[in-house]
Amino acid sequence: MDRRKFLNNLSVTAAASIAGAATLSGKADALEDAMEASLEEQYRRAKPGHCFVDGRPPRDPDDKRPFYQHNEPLLPKMPEAPTLMDFYKLRFSTNHVTQSARLAMKNGSSERVILACLMHDIGLSIMGTDHGYWAAQLVRPYVHEEVAWAIEKHQALRFFPDLEVGYEYPTRYIEYFGEDYVPEPYLKKEHDRAKNHKYYMSSREITMHDVYAFDPDLQVDVEIFTDIIGRNFKQPKEGLGFDGSPTAHMWRSIIWPNNFL
Ligand SMILES: [Fe+2]
Ligand SMILES: [Fe+2]
Repeated sequence: MDRRKFLNNLSVTAAASIAGAATLSGKADALEDAMEASLEEQYRRAKPGHCFVDGRPPRDPDDKRPFYQHNEPLLPKMPEAPTLMDFYKLRFSTNHVTQSARLAMKNGSSERVILACLMHDIGLSIMGTDHGYWAAQLVRPYVHEEVAWAIEKHQALRFFPDLEVGYEYPTRYIEYFGEDYVPEPYLKKEHDRAKNHKYYMSSREITMHDVYAFDPDLQVDVEIFTDIIGRNFKQPKEGLGFDGSPTAHMWRSIIWPNNFL
């Protein structure tokens, strides 16, 4: 660290707290706090927003490292060879996707569509922007092409009504994005291309089961989909993230979302 630059850029508050400390060790503590804050600011990274889990352990107060590599103490440790189910239990935000898959099941959708509903928003564990594409890419090596295609295209289809099957533009989006929001042209093009595809309805079904899957009073356990996952998801024996697949790094990024490098 460039000491002169650091001291020149010290905030007024930090400088005052260092100067105001009565003892030498008090000054040292204040300086350390200021350095930590400066490092955090310098290296701030976008963090995945959906790796939330309940019952987070408190960070060890003696651990002064500013950055973590590998096991983030705020997240539960994952097994060495994690399964898809482990990701649902230890990383993904699940209730919306499990509710959506349950609706698909109740409405008699195929197993592939149920699985697609169960996975349609897991891309949010990596990135909100274009999350349908992220999720599709993540799972493509392990599922039938229909599943990945349907997940990918829900990104665009959810913005465009299909009144023939009773899908309207979600009122939620008016609340979220405003009445004047117009989806970007690439989404319109994707929708138009998808409309005539043989898997169109598989993706459209995702959007139909998506809209009604936000019940705050309903908990749907992912375990009810164990058999469907078993039949339709090729679980690698080395564990997701460690099988050398083209998307292994994406699974690892969900295991260790806060690794500095
Ligand atoms: Fe989505
Ligand atoms: Fe969704």
